[in-house]
Amino acid sequence: MSEVVPGPRDPKRYIERRAALLSSMSADAVALVPSARMVIRNRDTEYAFRQDSDFFYLTGFTEPEAVLVLDARDGTTKLFCQDRDANLEQWTGRRLGAERAAQVLGVDSADVIDTFADDLETLIDGCHRLYVTMGEHSEFDQLVIDAVATVRRREAGGRVAPSEVVSLKGLLHEQRLIKSDVEIELMRRAADISSAGHERAMRACRAGLSEADLEAELVYEFMRSGARFPAYTSIVGSGANGCILHYVENESTLIDGELVLIDAGCEYQHYAADITRTFPVSGRFQGPQRDVYEVVLDAQRAAIAAAVPGAPFIAPHETAARRLTEGLIALGLLDGDAEDALEANAQQPYTVHRASHWLGIDVHDVGSYRDPEGESEWRAFEPGMVLTVEPGLYFPSHLLAGSPYTDIGVRIEDDVLITDDGNDVITSAAKEIAAIEELMRD
Ligand code: GLY
Ligand code: MN
Ligand code: MN
Repeated sequence: MSEVVPGPRDPKRYIERRAALLSSMSADAVALVPSARMVIRNRDTEYAFRQDSDFFYLTGFTEPEAVLVLDARDGTTKLFCQDRDANLEQWTGRRLGAERAAQVLGVDSADVIDTFADDLETLIDGCHRLYVTMGEHSEFDQLVIDAVATVRRREAGGRVAPSEVVSLKGLLHEQRLIKSDVEIELMRRAADISSAGHERAMRACRAGLSEADLEAELVYEFMRSGARFPAYTSIVGSGANGCILHYVENESTLIDGELVLIDAGCEYQHYAADITRTFPVSGRFQGPQRDVYEVVLDAQRAAIAAAVPGAPFIAPHETAARRLTEGLIALGLLDGDAEDALEANAQQPYTVHRASHWLGIDVHDVGSYRDPEGESEWRAFEPGMVLTVEPGLYFPSHLLAGSPYTDIGVRIEDDVLITDDGNDVITSAAKEIAAIEELMRD
């Protein structure tokens, strides 16, 4: 049997990403990108390891205890990682090891992580700008601060310490914001699996089950399709729980006559999907539920249509806010004229959140929402960006008591790729009332 070698099968895409990042760095700069760390869940048990998104984007490497160094002065890349150890590997799993890392990951050189702290002074000596994203990894930050201080103390001896320490987010997150063809393919797969998970939960739904039973249907569909983990904790909120934006207890019993709101998506090869569907436990929407649902669906459709190249990021949100406000007036829940209501932000207590965010390796993905060139303008959509469109209306009893709409919460969320001539909705779970009712009837 041939030996199993951990690491990406095809390092080319990561080599290209590192080259692109290097060419956007200033010529006399070094960048440091640390991996994520293992985190204790309780006593000696750890949370499942999830690689840092920036580190993964640049390496495809999924082990902890590693640092990527990019040196723009000579265009080289170096990886520090855990070394191989047959005894430890028998306990905690296979490691790539420094010896194989250069070839498997396509970096120029590799060394064991134990030498990183000592090598750091040499690595940063003479570079004027050091790119490192501080504030997320305090032990690593301290290592960098100590190395800079040491080099600075030795300047009389000819060393030159970096004069600027700059976050890498500006460069790297701009790069991550525009998805490549390979990334779009992975995101389509995440979207397909997640859509199937939602439809599976709709089919399984019946009164008397627990919210957790529906969560189990989602997770089952994710795992059997090659997506081991959800991209975030699945939200399965029935009845009044549907009004709690991040309800994750998922422990109530499903009751006939109530709606259930599911916000869940899988993570497929490190790419997230993020879908919300709201449907009746019984399989048939009741009058007031139907009224609210139609308002939200109309707002979502209009908001999706507003997400086109050249339009500002805020366009889908503003479009949704207008439609939701008009709907609230039609439902008799707001008075007067839509312009005045919008001016006064009167819809806000019932709409609560923004209608969009970027989506990618992180569910709330990186990249500025403002024009990087402008002062504070919203940035314009460009082909290759992926965002969610997720308007909602929520009527918790503390805001609206004694109404036919009390305790109704409806959100509809899809994932949208900006294309050259418009957009492509990559999520496909049933969302028309008739489609949901038909699927649940079958
Ligand atoms: N599931 C989090 C969100 O929809 O943004
Ligand atoms: Mn969501
Ligand atoms: Mn979302």
